[in-house]
Amino acid sequence: MNDKPEGKNNVTWFNGYLTREDREKLHGHKGAVIWFTGLSASGKSTIARYLENRLYEKGCSTYVFDGDNVRHGLCGDLGFSPEDREENIRRIGEMVNLYIDAGIIAIAAFISPYRKDRERIRDLVGKDRFMEIYVECPVDVCAARDQKGIYEKAKAGIIKEFTGISAPYEPPETPDLTVCSHKEDAIEASQRVLDLIKKRQII
Ligand code: ADX
Repeated sequence: MNDKPEGKNNVTWFNGYLTREDREKLHGHKGAVIWFTGLSASGKSTIARYLENRLYEKGCSTYVFDGDNVRHGLCGDLGFSPEDREENIRRIGEMVNLYIDAGIIAIAAFISPYRKDRERIRDLVGKDRFMEIYVECPVDVCAARDQKGIYEKAKAGIIKEFTGISAPYEPPETPDLTVCSHKEDAIEASQRVLDLIKKRQII
């Protein structure tokens, strides 16, 4: 976060007296983002919440960012066009970067359908602090699980540009971990993510 170039409108980055390392020492772990990507109803949010519980039990400071929540406030002005999705993920990326600077483990669960948007976040926060978790699930299984009725509406053309039906999803080419949520239990999956976090020496 240090050595920021001068921003637009004569705004310069203001460094506090404490560093990220100081804050990490207080939390007892590093700041990082665990980024879940996958179709709607693939199970991202469920695994993210189990993971948060596991980390909480270990005394870690965490926060879950979730598409269905963030889109009520911070990104409430955005829709689902390619441009709006890009802006959605850009804003979340900036937000989680601040959380990482605060020494927190941010857990993000967004469809985030575009590879380049996810790569931009990895470049922003640094690859050591970014873990991409691909929650893989066939679209018909997601549709069968969906309790919100959005897949039905998407198939009927009532919801336009719906990911997996009428809008693209670009799976990660080299995710840090893949969870096949149609074959694997969410509780077990959250344990595998926790193992990865330990292996990467975040906690
Ligand atoms: S993203 O594509 O910009 O990453 P995000 O994760 O924030 O999407 O929001 C996804 C949620 O918005 C879905 O779980 C679903 O409930 C809702 N949604 C509404 N319209 C759409 C759409 N056209 N495509 C995908 N999800 C949609």
